Amino acid sequence: MDGKICMVTGGTSGIGKATSLALARMGATIIVVGRDQKKSKQTVDKMRTVSGNSLVDYLIADLSSQKDIYELAKQFKNQYNHLDILVNNAGAKFVLRKVTVDGYEMTFALNHLAYFLLTNLLLDVLKDSGNARIINVSSGAHRGISGIAFDDLQSQKAYIGKRAYAQSKLANVIFTYELSRRLQGTGITANALAPPGTASNFCKNNGMISWFKHITAHVLAGNLVGPAEALQRQVSIWQHPLTYRVLPGNISSIRKRFLLQMPLMTKKEPGIFGK
Ligand SMILES: NC(=O)c1ccc[n+]([C@@H]2O[C@H](COP(=O)([O-])OP(=O)(O)OC[C@H]3O[C@@H](n4cnc5c(N)ncnc54)[C@H](OP(=O)(O)O)[C@@H]3O)[C@@H](O)[C@H]2O)c1
Repeated sequence: MDGKICMVTGGTSGIGKATSLALARMGATIIVVGRDQKKSKQTVDKMRTVSGNSLVDYLIADLSSQKDIYELAKQFKNQYNHLDILVNNAGAKFVLRKVTVDGYEMTFALNHLAYFLLTNLLLDVLKDSGNARIINVSSGAHRGISGIAFDDLQSQKAYIGKRAYAQSKLANVIFTYELSRRLQGTGITANALAPPGTASNFCKNNGMISWFKHITAHVLAGNLVGPAEALQRQVSIWQHPLTYRVLPGNISSIRKRFLLQMPLMTKKEPGIFGK
């Protein structure tokens, strides 16, 4: 990965942090996107020490704010001339309905609109890489909803956190397919993936009981892993990029393809998990 430039959103915790560290250990230049200056600096300082890679840096953006996303893209382009890997990972579930500074429902804005806007703002520098990869971190939770409620995208009629989260993660999958279709011939691949249930800070924003429920549910289902293990699906994409083609048909055929294309790798990657 020497010479590769990678941006990871939500790189200050959980899966995004493990992703950034793994890429740093592979020798890439990493831009961790964080929303808190102090936490981002501490995370990056530690990553440099642990990985022995000084090419780890951070940029600040609250990804629920579209102004911040525009500023993030601008700052990136001021400092770097191309981007090889974009990992749209920052996301959360919100038990109670919240509204962003732009007036959008928070789950939809953070989990989907941020992926959409940041990717589109960076497409020119991704194209300049010649062989870039876009990875959208979705979730198996996308199966918990039958489709997108286009008549109530902002969940104003009724808000159920689990449902809003499932819808945002289904939006990640559909966005990825359409993106992939539009990027055919550009050399850029776009992939979505669903990490397994991961012991991270996920759900802590709703309080410790919500976090505990998340952990317990995955323990009982026997599928809880640590952030480093959750990386396995991403590693397969970095190393063997799959180019999606949009299938004709409905959402269920898209889902089937999504699941078929994203097997959970079982072999651990030496050099990434070994340290
Ligand atoms: N954990 C699971 O079981 C699981 C399963 C399937 C999919 N996923 C998906 O995996 C992704 C990562 O989740 P995780 O488990 O690693 O959770 P996590 O530990 O809570 O990490 C989430 C990251 O997103 C950042 N973030 C949250 N809101 C933000 C905002 N407004 N602006 C900028 N950054 C923001 C957080 O920043 P701070 O560090 O400042 O809080 C953190 O770095 C999410 O997209 C999630 O939907 C998780």
